[in-house]
Amino acid sequence: MPVPYRVDTPYPRPEHLDRNIRYARILLNSYSGQGSELTAVMQYLYHHQMAERQRQDVSDCLRGIAIVEMHHLELLGEYINRLGLYPTYSFYQGTRRMRWNSGFVCYGRNLRDMLDSDIAAETKAIEGYERDIRSIPDPVIQSLLRRIIEDEEIHVKALTDLRQTL
Ligand SMILES: [Fe+2]
Ligand SMILES: [Fe+2]
Repeated sequence: MPVPYRVDTPYPRPEHLDRNIRYARILLNSYSGQGSELTAVMQYLYHHQMAERQRQDVSDCLRGIAIVEMHHLELLGEYINRLGLYPTYSFYQGTRRMRWNSGFVCYGRNLRDMLDSDIAAETKAIEGYERDIRSIPDPVIQSLLRRIIEDEEIHVKALTDLRQTL
């Protein structure tokens, strides 16, 4: 049975990946930086819970997307680990190590706000992955990031459709 809110094709496996700390650091940013998968998981879970008593369909969609983001988080963590870094919830800003923090989440005042910030975050995530693809000349990593982008595009479509009903 296809999992909702993701494309129904497999994710590329991180086999034959050589140690490369530079690549790992780039991925760490998409894993646990400001506009990261970790932020997405936390933001969608919060929005899912806030939507629950107002719009069950919106709430269900946000939960479904959160699960896919958690899968993205796991995949990036696996790749980061293979490339030689621990997938901790901290990232690099230049040479400084920064911790993920809850201030990265856009909580929003109402459902419209929430969906607007979710759509904006998805769009930024896609741009971020496109940037990562340009800076990491490794075909396996690039194909993972392209595959993740396909899911994010589904999220943009689902959220935009729901936003129009609010
Ligand atoms: Fe994602
Ligand atoms: Fe997404």
